[in-house]
Amino acid sequence: DYERNFIQCFSSHSVNSNSSVEVILAKNRSSYQSVLQASIKNPRFLNTSLPKPNLIVTPSYVYHIQAAILCSKKHSLQIRIRSGGHDYEGLSYVSNVPFIIIDLVKLRSISIDIKDESAWVESGATVGEFYYAIAKKSKIHGFPAGSCPTVGVGGHFSGGGFGTIFRRYGLAVDNIIDAHVVNVNGQILNRYLMGEDLFWAIKGGGGSSFGVIVSWKVKLVRVPPIVTVFDISKTLEQGATKVFQKWQTIADKFDQNLFLHAVMGVSSPSKNSGNKTVVVEFTALFLGAADNVMTLIQNNFKELGLQRNNCREMSWIQSVLYFASYNINAPLEVLLDRNQTLQSFKAKSDYVKVPIPETGLEGLWKLLVEEKSSLLIMTPYGGKMNEISESKTPFPHRRGSIYGIQYLVYWDSNEDSREAEKHINWMRRLYAYMEAYVSKSPRAAYLNYRDLDLGVNNADTSFAQAKIWGLKYFKHNFKRLVKVKSVVDPGNFFRNEQSIPLLPSHG
Ligand code: FDA
Repeated sequence: DYERNFIQCFSSHSVNSNSSVEVILAKNRSSYQSVLQASIKNPRFLNTSLPKPNLIVTPSYVYHIQAAILCSKKHSLQIRIRSGGHDYEGLSYVSNVPFIIIDLVKLRSISIDIKDESAWVESGATVGEFYYAIAKKSKIHGFPAGSCPTVGVGGHFSGGGFGTIFRRYGLAVDNIIDAHVVNVNGQILNRYLMGEDLFWAIKGGGGSSFGVIVSWKVKLVRVPPIVTVFDISKTLEQGATKVFQKWQTIADKFDQNLFLHAVMGVSSPSKNSGNKTVVVEFTALFLGAADNVMTLIQNNFKELGLQRNNCREMSWIQSVLYFASYNINAPLEVLLDRNQTLQSFKAKSDYVKVPIPETGLEGLWKLLVEEKSSLLIMTPYGGKMNEISESKTPFPHRRGSIYGIQYLVYWDSNEDSREAEKHINWMRRLYAYMEAYVSKSPRAAYLNYRDLDLGVNNADTSFAQAKIWGLKYFKHNFKRLVKVKSVVDPGNFFRNEQSIPLLPSHG
Protein backbone atom coordinates (compact mmCIF):
# COMPACT_ATOMS: atom_id res chain seq x y z
CA ASP A 1 0.00 0.00 0.00
CA TYR A 2 2.05 2.87 -1.42
CA GLU A 3 0.05 5.67 0.13
CA ARG A 4 -0.04 4.40 3.72
CA ASN A 5 3.65 3.51 3.79
CA PHE A 6 4.58 6.86 2.31
CA ILE A 7 2.43 8.85 4.73
CA GLN A 8 3.84 6.96 7.73
CA CYS A 9 7.38 7.53 6.53
CA PHE A 10 6.66 11.22 5.85
CA SER A 11 5.22 11.80 9.34
CA SER A 12 8.23 10.15 10.96
CA HIS A 13 10.52 12.58 9.11
CA SER A 14 8.50 15.67 9.88
CA VAL A 15 9.25 17.89 12.85
CA ASN A 16 5.56 18.37 13.40
CA SER A 17 3.69 15.23 12.35
CA ASN A 18 0.36 17.09 12.28
CA SER A 19 1.67 19.16 9.44
CA SER A 20 1.69 16.16 7.11
CA VAL A 21 -2.11 16.29 7.09
CA GLU A 22 -2.03 19.68 5.41
CA VAL A 23 0.90 18.88 3.18
CA ILE A 24 -0.08 15.49 1.73
CA LEU A 25 -3.17 15.20 -0.43
CA ALA A 26 -4.50 11.69 -1.08
CA LYS A 27 -7.06 11.00 -3.84
CA ASN A 28 -9.93 10.99 -1.36
CA ARG A 29 -9.19 14.52 -0.11
CA SER A 30 -11.51 17.18 -1.48
CA SER A 31 -8.67 19.49 -2.49
CA TYR A 32 -6.73 16.76 -4.39
CA GLN A 33 -8.51 17.44 -7.66
CA SER A 34 -8.42 21.24 -7.46
CA VAL A 35 -4.71 21.33 -6.56
CA LEU A 36 -3.89 18.83 -9.31
CA GLN A 37 -5.77 20.82 -11.95
CA ALA A 38 -4.80 24.31 -10.84
CA SER A 39 -1.38 24.09 -12.50
CA ILE A 40 -2.24 22.01 -15.57
CA LYS A 41 -1.50 24.67 -18.18
CA ASN A 42 -2.06 22.52 -21.26
CA PRO A 43 -5.71 21.35 -21.03
CA ARG A 44 -4.95 18.42 -23.32
CA PHE A 45 -3.54 16.76 -20.16
CA LEU A 46 -6.72 17.32 -18.13
CA ASN A 47 -8.01 14.15 -19.80
CA THR A 48 -9.48 11.99 -17.05
CA SER A 49 -8.06 8.77 -18.49
CA LEU A 50 -4.47 9.90 -17.97
CA PRO A 51 -2.65 8.42 -14.94
CA LYS A 52 -2.95 10.48 -11.77
CA PRO A 53 -0.49 10.80 -8.88
CA ASN A 54 -1.01 8.53 -5.86
CA LEU A 55 -0.40 11.57 -3.68
CA ILE A 56 0.31 15.27 -4.05
CA VAL A 57 2.79 16.74 -1.60
CA THR A 58 2.60 20.53 -1.20
CA PRO A 59 5.63 21.43 0.93
CA SER A 60 5.44 24.47 3.20
CA TYR A 61 9.02 24.02 4.38
CA VAL A 62 12.14 22.61 2.82
CA TYR A 63 12.13 19.66 5.24
CA HIS A 64 8.87 18.53 3.60
CA ILE A 65 10.76 18.25 0.30
CA GLN A 66 13.52 16.31 2.02
CA ALA A 67 10.97 13.91 3.57
CA ALA A 68 9.13 13.51 0.26
CA ILE A 69 12.33 12.54 -1.57
CA LEU A 70 13.52 10.09 1.09
CA CYS A 71 10.11 8.44 1.47
CA SER A 72 9.36 8.10 -2.23
CA LYS A 73 12.79 6.56 -2.72
CA LYS A 74 12.19 4.14 0.13
CA HIS A 75 8.76 3.11 -1.14
CA SER A 76 9.58 2.99 -4.86
CA LEU A 77 7.40 5.86 -5.94
CA GLN A 78 8.63 8.12 -8.69
CA ILE A 79 8.34 11.83 -8.22
CA ARG A 80 7.25 14.59 -10.54
CA ILE A 81 8.36 18.07 -9.54
CA ARG A 82 6.01 20.90 -10.38
CA SER A 83 6.48 24.65 -10.08
CA GLY A 84 4.27 26.52 -12.56
CA GLY A 85 2.96 23.46 -14.47
CA HIS A 86 3.71 24.84 -17.97
CA ASP A 87 5.57 21.78 -19.20
CA TYR A 88 4.44 21.37 -22.82
CA GLU A 89 4.14 17.60 -22.50
CA GLY A 90 2.76 17.52 -18.95
CA LEU A 91 5.87 15.87 -17.52
CA SER A 92 5.52 17.71 -14.21
CA TYR A 93 2.24 15.98 -13.39
CA VAL A 94 1.73 12.85 -15.58
CA SER A 95 3.62 9.56 -15.34
CA ASN A 96 2.95 5.96 -16.37
CA VAL A 97 4.38 4.46 -13.18
CA PRO A 98 3.16 4.97 -9.57
CA PHE A 99 4.19 8.48 -8.62
CA ILE A 100 3.70 11.47 -6.39
CA ILE A 101 3.81 15.15 -7.32
CA ILE A 102 5.92 17.51 -5.28
CA ASP A 103 4.01 20.71 -6.01
CA LEU A 104 5.93 23.80 -4.95
CA VAL A 105 2.97 26.15 -5.12
CA LYS A 106 3.34 27.14 -1.43
CA LEU A 107 7.06 27.84 -1.69
CA ARG A 108 7.01 31.13 -3.51
CA SER A 109 8.53 33.81 -1.37
CA ILE A 110 10.60 36.48 -3.07
CA SER A 111 13.13 38.68 -1.32
CA ILE A 112 14.73 41.55 -3.17
CA ASP A 113 17.85 43.40 -2.14
CA ILE A 114 17.99 46.54 -4.27
CA LYS A 115 21.24 47.72 -2.71
CA ASP A 116 22.93 44.47 -3.71
CA GLU A 117 20.91 44.33 -6.98
CA SER A 118 20.04 40.71 -6.29
CA ALA A 119 17.06 38.59 -5.27
CA TRP A 120 16.20 35.16 -3.84
CA VAL A 121 13.15 33.66 -5.53
CA GLU A 122 11.54 30.39 -4.48
CA SER A 123 10.72 27.95 -7.28
CA GLY A 124 6.94 28.06 -6.82
CA ALA A 125 6.83 31.78 -7.63
CA THR A 126 5.75 32.77 -11.12
CA VAL A 127 7.75 35.19 -13.26
CA GLY A 128 4.76 37.57 -13.00
CA GLU A 129 5.05 37.55 -9.20
CA PHE A 130 8.78 38.15 -9.54
CA TYR A 131 8.44 41.08 -11.99
CA TYR A 132 5.75 42.57 -9.73
CA ALA A 133 7.99 42.30 -6.66
CA ILE A 134 10.88 43.99 -8.51
CA ALA A 135 8.67 46.81 -9.80
CA LYS A 136 7.35 47.49 -6.28
CA LYS A 137 10.92 48.11 -5.13
CA SER A 138 12.53 49.88 -8.07
CA LYS A 139 11.70 51.61 -11.34
CA ILE A 140 15.09 50.95 -12.85
CA HIS A 141 15.54 47.24 -12.20
CA GLY A 142 14.16 44.25 -14.05
CA PHE A 143 14.94 40.64 -14.88
CA PRO A 144 15.38 38.94 -18.27
CA ALA A 145 12.97 35.98 -18.30
CA GLY A 146 9.82 34.87 -20.16
CA SER A 147 6.84 36.99 -21.12
CA CYS A 148 3.99 34.81 -19.86
CA PRO A 149 3.40 35.88 -16.23
CA THR A 150 2.12 32.49 -15.02
CA VAL A 151 5.27 30.57 -15.99
CA GLY A 152 6.94 29.05 -12.90
CA VAL A 153 10.43 30.11 -11.93
CA GLY A 154 11.34 26.48 -11.04
CA GLY A 155 10.98 24.92 -14.48
CA HIS A 156 11.53 28.06 -16.53
CA PHE A 157 14.92 29.04 -15.11
CA SER A 158 16.17 25.45 -15.09
CA GLY A 159 15.56 25.21 -18.86
CA GLY A 160 17.08 28.56 -19.93
CA GLY A 161 14.37 31.22 -19.94
CA PHE A 162 14.26 34.01 -22.50
CA GLY A 163 12.06 37.05 -22.97
CA THR A 164 11.89 40.49 -24.50
CA ILE A 165 15.14 41.82 -23.04
CA PHE A 166 17.39 38.81 -23.58
CA ARG A 167 19.31 40.33 -26.51
CA ARG A 168 20.64 42.88 -24.02
CA TYR A 169 20.94 40.86 -20.79
CA GLY A 170 21.00 37.18 -21.81
CA LEU A 171 18.79 34.38 -20.52
CA ALA A 172 17.45 33.95 -17.01
CA VAL A 173 20.20 31.35 -16.44
CA ASP A 174 22.90 33.82 -17.46
CA ASN A 175 21.91 35.87 -14.41
CA ILE A 176 21.74 33.18 -11.72
CA ILE A 177 24.35 33.43 -8.98
CA ASP A 178 23.30 30.81 -6.42
CA ALA A 179 20.62 28.18 -5.81
CA HIS A 180 19.30 25.85 -3.13
CA VAL A 181 18.70 22.28 -4.22
CA VAL A 182 17.55 19.16 -2.35
CA ASN A 183 19.47 16.20 -3.72
CA VAL A 184 18.67 12.50 -3.93
CA ASN A 185 19.95 11.95 -0.37
CA GLY A 186 17.68 14.64 1.01
CA GLN A 187 20.54 17.08 1.61
CA ILE A 188 20.08 20.82 1.05
CA LEU A 189 22.89 22.20 -1.08
CA ASN A 190 23.82 25.73 -1.98
CA ARG A 191 26.19 26.63 -4.81
CA TYR A 192 29.29 26.06 -2.68
CA LEU A 193 28.10 22.68 -1.38
CA MET A 194 26.80 21.40 -4.72
CA GLY A 195 29.93 22.42 -6.61
CA GLU A 196 30.24 24.09 -9.99
CA ASP A 197 29.28 21.01 -12.07
CA LEU A 198 25.82 20.60 -10.58
CA PHE A 199 25.35 24.38 -10.44
CA TRP A 200 26.15 24.47 -14.16
CA ALA A 201 23.77 21.58 -14.96
CA ILE A 202 20.66 23.08 -13.37
CA LYS A 203 21.13 26.32 -15.33
CA GLY A 204 19.59 25.04 -18.56
CA GLY A 205 19.87 21.25 -18.30
CA GLY A 206 16.40 20.95 -16.74
CA GLY A 207 16.12 20.68 -12.95
CA SER A 208 14.09 17.50 -12.88
CA SER A 209 17.05 15.20 -13.70
CA PHE A 210 19.14 16.41 -10.78
CA GLY A 211 17.09 17.28 -7.71
CA VAL A 212 14.44 19.63 -6.43
CA ILE A 213 15.43 23.26 -6.82
CA VAL A 214 14.02 25.15 -3.86
CA SER A 215 15.14 28.66 -4.76
CA TRP A 216 17.36 30.73 -7.01
CA LYS A 217 19.52 33.73 -6.27
CA VAL A 218 19.69 36.04 -9.27
CA LYS A 219 21.32 39.26 -10.28
CA LEU A 220 18.81 41.96 -11.15
CA VAL A 221 19.52 44.01 -14.27
CA ARG A 222 19.28 47.79 -14.69
CA VAL A 223 16.59 48.85 -17.14
CA PRO A 224 16.11 52.38 -18.46
CA PRO A 225 13.18 54.37 -16.98
CA ILE A 226 11.63 54.67 -20.45
CA VAL A 227 11.25 51.89 -23.00
CA THR A 228 9.34 51.89 -26.29
CA VAL A 229 7.06 49.29 -27.86
CA PHE A 230 5.52 49.07 -31.30
CA ASP A 231 3.51 46.56 -33.21
CA ILE A 232 3.05 46.46 -37.00
CA SER A 233 1.15 43.79 -38.92
CA LYS A 234 1.42 42.96 -42.61
CA THR A 235 -0.69 40.55 -44.57
CA LEU A 236 0.72 38.82 -47.64
CA GLU A 237 -1.24 41.30 -49.75
CA GLN A 238 0.48 44.14 -47.90
CA GLY A 239 3.90 42.70 -48.71
CA ALA A 240 4.58 40.58 -45.62
CA THR A 241 6.96 38.32 -47.56
CA LYS A 242 9.36 41.10 -48.56
CA VAL A 243 9.33 42.65 -45.11
CA PHE A 244 9.93 39.28 -43.47
CA GLN A 245 12.78 38.54 -45.85
CA LYS A 246 14.48 41.77 -44.86
CA TRP A 247 13.80 41.00 -41.18
CA GLN A 248 15.64 37.68 -41.54
CA THR A 249 18.79 39.47 -42.62
CA ILE A 250 18.90 42.03 -39.80
CA ALA A 251 16.90 40.85 -36.77
CA ASP A 252 19.96 39.37 -35.02
CA LYS A 253 22.25 42.27 -36.01
CA PHE A 254 20.25 45.13 -34.50
CA ASP A 255 21.55 47.06 -31.52
CA GLN A 256 21.09 44.78 -28.49
CA ASN A 257 18.60 47.24 -26.98
CA LEU A 258 16.11 46.30 -29.69
CA PHE A 259 14.07 43.12 -29.57
CA LEU A 260 11.91 42.83 -32.69
CA HIS A 261 10.17 39.52 -33.11
CA ALA A 262 7.92 38.28 -35.90
CA VAL A 263 4.76 36.30 -35.22
CA MET A 264 3.10 34.54 -38.15
CA GLY A 265 -0.51 33.58 -37.99
CA VAL A 266 -3.64 33.27 -40.07
CA SER A 267 -6.57 35.62 -40.25
CA SER A 268 -9.83 35.76 -42.17
CA PRO A 269 -10.31 39.31 -43.48
CA SER A 270 -14.03 39.09 -42.87
CA LYS A 271 -16.00 36.43 -41.07
CA ASN A 272 -18.08 35.52 -44.11
CA SER A 273 -15.49 35.66 -46.84
CA GLY A 274 -13.60 32.58 -45.65
CA ASN A 275 -10.51 33.84 -47.47
CA LYS A 276 -7.75 33.14 -45.06
CA THR A 277 -4.55 35.03 -45.32
CA VAL A 278 -1.21 34.90 -43.57
CA VAL A 279 -0.37 37.82 -41.29
CA VAL A 280 3.07 38.60 -39.95
CA GLU A 281 3.08 40.76 -36.85
CA PHE A 282 6.31 42.55 -35.99
CA THR A 283 6.37 43.50 -32.34
CA ALA A 284 9.23 45.32 -30.66
CA LEU A 285 10.56 46.33 -27.32
CA PHE A 286 13.30 48.95 -27.38
CA LEU A 287 15.23 49.78 -24.22
CA GLY A 288 15.16 53.54 -24.73
CA ALA A 289 13.15 56.43 -26.14
CA ALA A 290 10.88 56.39 -29.21
CA ASP A 291 12.99 58.88 -31.18
CA ASN A 292 16.00 56.63 -30.92
CA VAL A 293 14.21 53.54 -32.15
CA MET A 294 12.68 55.55 -35.00
CA THR A 295 16.16 56.50 -36.19
CA LEU A 296 17.36 52.93 -35.84
CA ILE A 297 14.49 51.50 -37.88
CA GLN A 298 14.66 54.25 -40.52
CA ASN A 299 18.34 53.56 -41.04
CA ASN A 300 18.10 49.77 -41.15
CA PHE A 301 14.57 48.59 -41.79
CA LYS A 302 12.60 51.18 -43.79
CA GLU A 303 10.49 48.41 -45.37
CA LEU A 304 8.63 48.06 -42.07
CA GLY A 305 7.00 51.46 -42.57
CA LEU A 306 7.30 52.46 -38.92
CA GLN A 307 5.71 55.82 -38.02
CA ARG A 308 6.32 57.82 -34.87
CA ASN A 309 2.70 57.32 -33.84
CA ASN A 310 3.16 53.54 -33.87
CA CYS A 311 5.57 53.93 -30.95
CA ARG A 312 4.48 53.99 -27.32
CA GLU A 313 6.80 54.98 -24.52
CA MET A 314 6.29 53.37 -21.13
CA SER A 315 8.09 51.89 -18.14
CA TRP A 316 9.70 48.45 -18.28
CA ILE A 317 7.00 46.93 -16.07
CA GLN A 318 4.32 48.35 -18.38
CA SER A 319 6.07 46.62 -21.27
CA VAL A 320 5.72 43.39 -19.27
CA LEU A 321 1.95 44.01 -19.15
CA TYR A 322 1.97 44.82 -22.88
CA PHE A 323 3.69 41.57 -23.90
CA ALA A 324 1.33 39.66 -21.60
CA SER A 325 -1.60 41.21 -23.55
CA TYR A 326 -2.80 43.37 -20.66
CA ASN A 327 -3.68 47.04 -20.91
CA ILE A 328 -0.52 48.92 -19.95
CA ASN A 329 -2.51 50.98 -17.44
CA ALA A 330 -3.94 47.92 -15.69
CA PRO A 331 -3.05 47.61 -11.99
CA LEU A 332 0.23 45.69 -11.63
CA GLU A 333 -1.64 43.15 -9.48
CA VAL A 334 -2.84 41.44 -12.69
CA LEU A 335 0.66 39.97 -12.81
CA LEU A 336 -0.17 37.99 -9.66
CA ASP A 337 -3.05 36.12 -11.28
CA ARG A 338 -1.99 32.49 -11.57
CA ASN A 339 -5.22 31.27 -13.14
CA GLN A 340 -4.75 32.14 -16.79
CA THR A 341 -6.48 29.49 -18.90
CA LEU A 342 -5.04 28.34 -22.18
CA GLN A 343 -6.33 26.25 -25.05
CA SER A 344 -5.01 22.76 -25.74
CA PHE A 345 -1.83 22.96 -27.79
CA LYS A 346 1.11 21.14 -29.35
CA ALA A 347 4.39 22.91 -30.00
CA LYS A 348 7.83 22.34 -31.49
CA SER A 349 10.94 24.43 -31.96
CA ASP A 350 13.78 25.05 -34.40
CA TYR A 351 16.74 27.34 -34.95
CA VAL A 352 17.43 29.15 -38.22
CA LYS A 353 21.02 29.80 -39.32
CA VAL A 354 20.48 30.85 -42.92
CA PRO A 355 17.51 33.00 -44.03
CA ILE A 356 14.65 30.95 -45.45
CA PRO A 357 14.33 31.61 -49.22
CA GLU A 358 11.10 32.91 -50.72
CA THR A 359 10.18 29.51 -52.15
CA GLY A 360 10.47 28.05 -48.66
CA LEU A 361 8.22 30.74 -47.26
CA GLU A 362 5.61 30.14 -49.94
CA GLY A 363 5.31 26.48 -48.96
CA LEU A 364 5.06 27.54 -45.34
CA TRP A 365 2.18 29.94 -46.05
CA LYS A 366 0.28 27.11 -47.76
CA LEU A 367 0.64 24.87 -44.73
CA LEU A 368 -0.24 27.62 -42.26
CA VAL A 369 -3.66 28.35 -43.74
CA GLU A 370 -4.68 24.70 -43.37
CA GLU A 371 -5.17 25.24 -39.63
CA LYS A 372 -7.48 27.66 -37.86
CA SER A 373 -5.22 28.49 -34.92
CA SER A 374 -1.60 28.12 -35.84
CA LEU A 375 1.19 30.42 -34.81
CA LEU A 376 4.89 30.69 -35.52
CA ILE A 377 6.90 32.87 -33.17
CA MET A 378 10.27 33.90 -34.60
CA THR A 379 12.60 35.16 -31.87
CA PRO A 380 15.73 37.05 -32.97
CA TYR A 381 19.01 36.08 -31.28
CA GLY A 382 22.31 37.96 -31.51
CA GLY A 383 23.33 40.76 -29.15
CA LYS A 384 24.41 39.47 -25.74
CA MET A 385 23.60 35.89 -26.83
CA ASN A 386 26.57 36.07 -29.24
CA GLU A 387 28.96 36.97 -26.46
CA ILE A 388 28.31 33.90 -24.31
CA SER A 389 30.00 30.64 -25.25
CA GLU A 390 27.92 27.55 -26.08
CA SER A 391 29.29 25.67 -23.10
CA LYS A 392 28.91 28.37 -20.46
CA THR A 393 25.52 26.89 -19.58
CA PRO A 394 23.80 23.73 -20.92
CA PHE A 395 21.65 25.99 -23.16
CA PRO A 396 23.74 25.91 -26.37
CA HIS A 397 21.85 28.09 -28.83
CA ARG A 398 24.12 31.12 -28.98
CA ARG A 399 26.26 32.61 -31.77
CA GLY A 400 25.17 31.47 -35.22
CA SER A 401 21.44 31.30 -34.55
CA ILE A 402 19.72 34.12 -36.42
CA TYR A 403 16.41 33.30 -34.82
CA GLY A 404 14.52 30.59 -33.01
CA ILE A 405 11.12 29.39 -34.18
CA GLN A 406 8.37 28.16 -31.96
CA TYR A 407 5.57 26.41 -33.86
CA LEU A 408 2.23 26.26 -32.07
CA VAL A 409 -1.13 24.81 -32.93
CA TYR A 410 -4.13 25.34 -30.66
CA TRP A 411 -7.51 23.70 -30.55
CA ASP A 412 -10.64 23.84 -28.52
CA SER A 413 -10.34 21.66 -25.43
CA ASN A 414 -13.77 20.17 -26.15
CA GLU A 415 -12.56 18.55 -29.37
CA ASP A 416 -12.25 14.78 -29.06
CA SER A 417 -8.97 12.90 -29.22
CA ARG A 418 -9.37 12.09 -32.93
CA GLU A 419 -9.63 15.77 -33.74
CA ALA A 420 -6.70 16.53 -31.45
CA GLU A 421 -4.63 13.90 -33.27
CA LYS A 422 -5.33 15.69 -36.58
CA HIS A 423 -3.90 18.95 -35.24
CA ILE A 424 -0.86 17.13 -33.87
CA ASN A 425 -0.33 15.40 -37.21
CA TRP A 426 -0.52 18.73 -38.99
CA MET A 427 2.20 19.98 -36.65
CA ARG A 428 4.35 16.96 -37.54
CA ARG A 429 3.89 17.63 -41.27
CA LEU A 430 4.88 21.26 -40.78
CA TYR A 431 7.99 20.17 -38.86
CA ALA A 432 8.92 17.72 -41.62
CA TYR A 433 8.50 20.46 -44.21
CA MET A 434 10.74 22.86 -42.31
CA GLU A 435 13.64 20.42 -42.07
CA ALA A 436 15.23 21.79 -45.24
CA TYR A 437 15.42 25.34 -43.85
CA VAL A 438 16.64 24.99 -40.27
CA SER A 439 19.73 23.94 -38.31
CA LYS A 440 21.12 20.48 -39.04
CA SER A 441 23.35 17.92 -37.29
CA PRO A 442 21.81 18.28 -34.86
CA ARG A 443 18.48 19.83 -35.72
CA ALA A 444 18.38 21.95 -32.57
CA ALA A 445 15.44 22.40 -30.17
CA TYR A 446 14.73 24.38 -26.99
CA LEU A 447 14.27 22.29 -23.85
CA ASN A 448 11.60 24.59 -22.41
CA TYR A 449 9.50 23.87 -25.52
CA ARG A 450 9.58 20.20 -24.66
CA ASP A 451 8.65 17.85 -27.48
CA LEU A 452 8.35 14.13 -26.84
CA ASP A 453 8.33 13.45 -30.62
CA LEU A 454 12.10 13.97 -30.42
CA GLY A 455 12.40 10.75 -28.42
CA VAL A 456 11.76 9.34 -24.96
CA ASN A 457 13.52 7.17 -22.40
CA ASN A 458 12.33 3.60 -22.10
CA ALA A 459 11.68 2.05 -18.70
CA ASP A 460 15.45 1.63 -18.45
CA THR A 461 16.88 4.98 -19.50
CA SER A 462 19.49 4.39 -22.19
CA PHE A 463 22.34 6.69 -23.09
CA ALA A 464 22.22 5.80 -26.79
CA GLN A 465 18.54 6.63 -27.04
CA ALA A 466 18.66 9.77 -24.94
CA LYS A 467 21.54 11.06 -27.03
CA ILE A 468 19.17 11.54 -29.99
CA TRP A 469 17.13 14.24 -28.30
CA GLY A 470 19.87 15.20 -25.83
CA LEU A 471 22.08 16.53 -28.64
CA LYS A 472 19.20 18.53 -30.07
CA TYR A 473 18.49 20.29 -26.78
CA PHE A 474 22.06 20.62 -25.51
CA LYS A 475 24.53 19.90 -28.36
CA HIS A 476 27.94 18.95 -26.95
CA ASN A 477 26.82 19.95 -23.44
CA PHE A 478 24.80 16.73 -23.34
CA LYS A 479 27.90 14.69 -22.46
CA ARG A 480 28.75 16.91 -19.51
CA LEU A 481 25.15 16.72 -18.29
CA VAL A 482 25.39 12.91 -18.38
CA LYS A 483 28.61 13.00 -16.37
CA VAL A 484 27.12 15.30 -13.75
CA LYS A 485 24.00 13.13 -13.56
CA SER A 486 26.08 9.98 -13.04
CA VAL A 487 27.83 11.59 -10.08
CA VAL A 488 24.92 13.29 -8.33
CA ASP A 489 22.17 10.70 -8.94
CA PRO A 490 23.90 7.36 -9.70
CA GLY A 491 20.71 5.39 -8.96
CA ASN A 492 18.76 7.43 -11.54
CA PHE A 493 16.05 8.32 -9.03
CA PHE A 494 15.18 11.64 -10.68
CA ARG A 495 13.91 10.41 -14.01
CA ASN A 496 11.20 11.01 -16.55
CA GLU A 497 10.56 10.50 -20.28
CA GLN A 498 13.29 12.98 -21.19
CA SER A 499 15.57 13.02 -18.16
CA ILE A 500 19.34 12.97 -18.52
CA PRO A 501 20.59 9.34 -18.55
CA LEU A 502 23.59 7.85 -16.74
CA LEU A 503 26.90 7.10 -18.45
CA PRO A 504 26.66 3.72 -20.25
CA SER A 505 28.90 2.04 -17.65
CA HIS A 506 26.28 2.77 -14.96
CA GLY A 507 23.43 1.27 -17.00
P1 FDA B 1 6.54 22.84 -14.75
O1 FDA B 1 6.20 22.95 -13.31
O2 FDA B 1 5.60 22.06 -15.61
O3 FDA B 1 8.01 22.31 -14.90
C1 FDA B 1 8.66 22.11 -16.14
C2 FDA B 1 9.78 21.09 -15.98
O4 FDA B 1 10.70 21.52 -14.97
C3 FDA B 1 9.29 19.72 -15.51
O5 FDA B 1 10.14 18.73 -16.02
C4 FDA B 1 9.43 19.80 -14.01
O6 FDA B 1 9.54 18.53 -13.37
C5 FDA B 1 10.72 20.60 -13.86
N1 FDA B 1 10.70 21.39 -12.63
C6 FDA B 1 9.78 22.31 -12.27
N2 FDA B 1 10.11 22.86 -11.10
C7 FDA B 1 11.25 22.28 -10.69
C8 FDA B 1 12.07 22.42 -9.53
N3 FDA B 1 11.75 23.28 -8.58
N4 FDA B 1 13.17 21.64 -9.40
C9 FDA B 1 13.49 20.75 -10.37
N5 FDA B 1 12.76 20.58 -11.50
C10 FDA B 1 11.64 21.32 -11.66
N6 FDA B 1 9.69 29.92 -22.15
C11 FDA B 1 10.55 30.94 -22.39
O7 FDA B 1 11.77 30.75 -22.33
N7 FDA B 1 10.08 32.19 -22.68
C12 FDA B 1 8.76 32.47 -22.71
O8 FDA B 1 8.38 33.62 -22.96
C13 FDA B 1 7.85 31.42 -22.45
N8 FDA B 1 6.50 31.63 -22.51
C14 FDA B 1 5.63 30.60 -22.24
C15 FDA B 1 4.25 30.82 -22.30
C16 FDA B 1 3.35 29.80 -22.06
C17 FDA B 1 1.88 30.07 -22.11
C18 FDA B 1 3.84 28.51 -21.77
C19 FDA B 1 2.88 27.35 -21.51
C20 FDA B 1 5.21 28.27 -21.71
C21 FDA B 1 6.12 29.30 -21.96
N9 FDA B 1 7.50 29.09 -21.93
C22 FDA B 1 8.35 30.13 -22.17
C23 FDA B 1 8.02 27.74 -21.66
C24 FDA B 1 8.39 27.58 -20.20
O9 FDA B 1 9.64 28.20 -19.98
C25 FDA B 1 8.51 26.09 -19.82
O10 FDA B 1 7.30 25.44 -20.04
C26 FDA B 1 8.97 25.92 -18.39
O11 FDA B 1 9.56 24.66 -18.23
C27 FDA B 1 7.83 26.09 -17.41
O12 FDA B 1 8.23 26.03 -16.09
P2 FDA B 1 7.10 25.72 -14.99
O13 FDA B 1 7.74 25.71 -13.66
O14 FDA B 1 5.93 26.61 -15.20
O15 FDA B 1 6.60 24.28 -15.44
